[in-house]
Amino acid sequence: MYQTGWMKFKVISDSRGNLSAIEGGKDIPFSIKRVYYITGVESGVERGFHAHRQLHQVLLCLHGSLKVRLFNGTQKEEVVLNDPAKGLYVGPWVWREMYDFSPGAVLLVLASAEYDEADYIRSYEAYLSEAKAIFDE
Ligand code: TYD
Repeated sequence: MYQTGWMKFKVISDSRGNLSAIEGGKDIPFSIKRVYYITGVESGVERGFHAHRQLHQVLLCLHGSLKVRLFNGTQKEEVVLNDPAKGLYVGPWVWREMYDFSPGAVLLVLASAEYDEADYIRSYEAYLSEAKAIFDE
């Protein structure tokens, strides 16, 4: 699976505010093994610059906005995350770069596995050659 896609989550709103719930394996296509979040990214700072061999993730911007550059081996795409009810699914073998964080932006990531540095490909050249071998299969 070499893909990305949008997931829309239900919002339960009343006079007290908004609530959304995400259940692993039901609202997103994997069991959630890990949650992490990124805050305090200064203007002009870019993060990510890696792909994963196995990991499935869903990215949500809970506050503010940020942009994500995606490359899946053939297509490049740039998307905006600015809606807490909208998640960006990023599958294995997708290169991602996060940038243009607004002041106070909060990025939440739901992940299918525990942290494993061995699952990362952090060199773009290594990504291109490893991904080419995978895509050519
Ligand atoms: P890094 O991969 O550089 O973040 P980003 O993808 O946003 O560029 O991660 C920063 C540091 O945090 C790095 O030392 C690895 C560590 N880390 C964990 O310990 N656990 C985690 O779940 C994640 C995502 C990162």
